[in-house]
Amino acid sequence: MGAAAPDQPIPVSDMKDLARYANDIPIIEVVAGDGDGTFEVVWADGERAGFTHLWLRDNCACDTCRHPQTLERVASFLTVPLDIEPLAMTVTDRGALAVSWPGAGDGDEDTAAEPHPSVYDPGWLRTMAARRTKVHEREFPIETWGALGPSEVPSTDHGAAMTTDEGLRDWLTQLTAYGISLLTDGPAVEGEVLNVAERISKNGIRPTAFGTVFEVFSKPHPNNAAYTPVRLMPHIDLPNYTRPPDYQFLYCVANEADGGESTFVDGFKIADVLRTTEPEHFEVLASTLVSFRFQDHEYDIRYRSPMIVLDPDGKVVEVRVNDWIRDTTPDVALADERAFYAAYRSLLEKVEDRRYQLRVKLGAGQMVAFDNRRVLHGRESFDPNTGERFLQGLYVERDFVRSRLRVLDRSAV
Ligand code: OGA
Ligand code: ZN
Ligand code: ZN
Repeated sequence: MGAAAPDQPIPVSDMKDLARYANDIPIIEVVAGDGDGTFEVVWADGERAGFTHLWLRDNCACDTCRHPQTLERVASFLTVPLDIEPLAMTVTDRGALAVSWPGAGDGDEDTAAEPHPSVYDPGWLRTMAARRTKVHEREFPIETWGALGPSEVPSTDHGAAMTTDEGLRDWLTQLTAYGISLLTDGPAVEGEVLNVAERISKNGIRPTAFGTVFEVFSKPHPNNAAYTPVRLMPHIDLPNYTRPPDYQFLYCVANEADGGESTFVDGFKIADVLRTTEPEHFEVLASTLVSFRFQDHEYDIRYRSPMIVLDPDGKVVEVRVNDWIRDTTPDVALADERAFYAAYRSLLEKVEDRRYQLRVKLGAGQMVAFDNRRVLHGRESFDPNTGERFLQGLYVERDFVRSRLRVLDRSAV
């Protein structure tokens, strides 16, 4: 067993699932369906939930069905007939669900297959039932935002995030909810951006053609607008990649030059506004594949994607906007080109509208983290002759951020 942390309810039956179970309320009754392959479980607090026999058999957690060390499924699903019915279903005296399944057999009628016993933990079944009701919701809830001043930026103390589980959880929860969070009061030193990323995971950093840690300052031979002192319209980085980097961290080591204020725009907010007020523009941006491209003497990296990406439920899951690496490829039919440009213009007008912008001038020792596939970032121009402006950045995979939050949740009190 050993799955639950000491302060969690002890599972009645090990389901080989390390996540915390919803509760430890026992099952008191199983109600058969009317021959349609379903049944209902009733818990002691009166909650009920339906399942199918097929799903239940598929998710047996015994050592034959699920590997004791890897916790992965080992029995092939092909051993489960689609019309499987249990031989018996009972509630154990500890409130778990015990099931006897027909054995798979070997096709030889002389050797009757042994029945296959399974035991399902009541808290685990409750967790599964709750998940079914949420499959169309985001696992990490989001909150969209419009104009925010420097004092309203979601922020977490650097030291808290780096040294305590609660601080780390607060920071990452803020980051997943708002798509942005400012870490404050960190050391104004080179390399700290890597320490912060490694606080999430040593393996979650995403290198790109710009390397693992990239440095933003005014360079003599720039291959990218960010390496000049010009204004950068709010944009996402690397929309020309099949999968643009998920989270971006920008650590401010020095920011003494005049100008260089950072701007951020919640792309999900803008998409919501477009969807409500200009549905025809929203539709065009969600359905037109647009080419993005980066080229220098070493690389030519291109990808086509809608600027507003929807999941099968119609939820906005990604916004790809970057005006200067939009490619020249004529992506739409002649007759549709003007409609595309009209929709795109309207999107950009919102990106540039201060009603949707969070503005903050990063101070030395501050690090901004944001969801590069949701939140657009930009900066005002700066004058490199008036002082140093030096940021170090890197990209972190979303899967590692979410994983860290899930693992922290196992032991949260
Ligand atoms: C970038 C970028 C922002 C800044 O490097 O992609 O957008 O504040 N930089 O310099
Ligand atoms: Zn089994
Ligand atoms: Zn950028």
